[in-house]
Amino acid sequence: MDERYPELFLMDDPKSVVSEAFRMLRTNLQFASVDRPLKKIMVTSSVPQEGKSTVIANLAICIASAGSKVLLVDADLRRPNIYKLFLLENYKGLSNLLAENLPKDAVINKTKVENLHVITSGPVPPNPAEILGSARMKNFLDQVASEYDMVLIDAPPVNSVADASILSSLVDGVILVVEAGSTEREAAIVAKQQLEKVNARILGVVLNKVKQEKSGGYYYYYYYYGEEGKKRKKKKII
Ligand SMILES: Nc1ncnc2c1ncn2[C@@H]1O[C@H](COP(=O)(O)OP(=O)(O)OP(=O)(O)O)[C@@H](O)[C@H]1O
Ligand SMILES: [Mg+2]
Repeated sequence: MDERYPELFLMDDPKSVVSEAFRMLRTNLQFASVDRPLKKIMVTSSVPQEGKSTVIANLAICIASAGSKVLLVDADLRRPNIYKLFLLENYKGLSNLLAENLPKDAVINKTKVENLHVITSGPVPPNPAEILGSARMKNFLDQVASEYDMVLIDAPPVNSVADASILSSLVDGVILVVEAGSTEREAAIVAKQQLEKVNARILGVVLNKVKQEKSGGYYYYYYYYGEEGKKRKKKKII
């Protein structure tokens, strides 16, 4: 474990249920990329605090640990969190890159995880939706997608602001996080419909904060509800 990242518990124990769930998610993403390229992947959820940032950060570590070159981008320009998880400064980040046209090398951070680079949000701008929907953002994503094996993007929730919908049209696929026992069915359905309206490719759902009875703790559970998973029990959720 790297004690510098106390929130990123994926690194705690590679044999844990959580680590196994993330490896499953990684494998499922590999399968999902067989027919269509899957390089730019974004995470969102219906409402705040369901665990988007935690999930995408741990997924980034999981994929990088397998040897792929990963760039994690904090595109939640309203409640940025990735810099906290990786104990980074946030003076310069995505918002500067887009607003001031900085070169990306000026905002890329190395991490203690080999193969994993991070771009923090940068200072919160007055017009997040506008700058996320800019041609500069599209160009930036296309450029980094050609340089990294995988670009993972943290985003705000879908149901309150336009940012996630805007971003979803710039990426290859979207992972939807649902908080077990908390997310209202209606909210999850609205999020799914909103993403479908903008033709987002929803890759699957991470059911997060599932109570683990034995230990009383929480763990992650992942399954598809996309094409591949229609027959599975996930239909209970969405
Ligand atoms: N599986 C989990 N088990 C226990 N706690 C968790 C889990 N996932 C996330 N959390 C906790 O839930 C809180 C919200 O997590 P996180 O910041 O990742 O959510 P978010 O959806 O990105 O929030 P926001 O909408 O503010 O961006 C944090 O305190 C985090 O530590
Ligand atoms: Mg977040």
